[in-house]
Amino acid sequence: MAALDDRIALVTGGGRGIGRGIVHQLAKAGAHIAIGDVDLESAEKTAGEVEELGRRARVVRLDVTRAESARAGVAGVLEHFGGLDILVNNAGVVQEHLDDEATEDDYDRCFEVNLKGIWIVSREAAEHFKQREAGKIVNIASIAGRRGGHGLAPYSASKAGAISLTQSLASGLGRFGVNVNAVCPGLLWTPMWEKLEGLFQGDVAPDVVDKRAAFEAYLRSACPLGREQTPEDIGDAVVFLASDAARNITGQSLNVDGGIQMN
Ligand SMILES: NC(=O)c1ccc[n+]([C@@H]2O[C@H](COP(=O)([O-])OP(=O)(O)OC[C@H]3O[C@@H](n4cnc5c(N)ncnc54)[C@H](O)[C@@H]3O)[C@@H](O)[C@H]2O)c1
Repeated sequence: MAALDDRIALVTGGGRGIGRGIVHQLAKAGAHIAIGDVDLESAEKTAGEVEELGRRARVVRLDVTRAESARAGVAGVLEHFGGLDILVNNAGVVQEHLDDEATEDDYDRCFEVNLKGIWIVSREAAEHFKQREAGKIVNIASIAGRRGGHGLAPYSASKAGAISLTQSLASGLGRFGVNVNAVCPGLLWTPMWEKLEGLFQGDVAPDVVDKRAAFEAYLRSACPLGREQTPEDIGDAVVFLASDAARNITGQSLNVDGGIQMN
């Protein structure tokens, strides 16, 4: 029997990148998956991969910044699957400009999607979890939320907020038997990364123009284990936190980063 046999999981932003890796690992652990995303094309593709793994899949259009969209999305999952056991708040964005040129819009977008979006979708799922007195919420924060620094202030602050919100939700939902935890990914080569390469070229490898080379140079300088993390690494941590093995863990944020941040 697999760790999550026949559980129902909703993964926001599950169509690509880290979300896709989380979807794969949850499905391999036995879960049926709803993917809630604004990018329906990649969500449909990933849903097809879940079905190839022998699990059920459903795509729901869900914008985590819109309460009515979250409400309809969660209701659609409940109607289709007849329940919900696991919510993974993975959807996220990074700022368009580094700090010297950061705009109000950079702050608004990061806070709306990365922080308020967690609360909006969790609120909908929590209604169901409270009634059945069980449920798991796993938020995807970031090691960027562990420590501020020049370059990614809006993003880092939103992720620090996500870590704090994880603790608040865990405190409030514990008496209903709901576990709320976070995973803080380190460095992953996903579409999001393309927006970040300017920062690391400047800090670590000023002579490097190739994006992938800049990523690897930063990894060599900052990561004790010296290897990049994969979406599946993050998915494995999510599977653990969503499983019965983690029943007495709540309010925690787990770094999956090869040792970049040791706290
Ligand atoms: N890539 C990294 O190195 C890294 C490191 C640490 C944390 N993270 C976090 O991991 C998560 C996934 O990142 P990624 O690298 O896979 O990014 P990505 O840009 O590749 O994927 C993000 C996904 O979220 C979806 N999304 C964006 N806005 C949304 C909204 N309003 N509603 C619903 N879905 C929305 C996108 O359509 C996409 O499917 C994010 O929360 C990100 O902050 C990423």
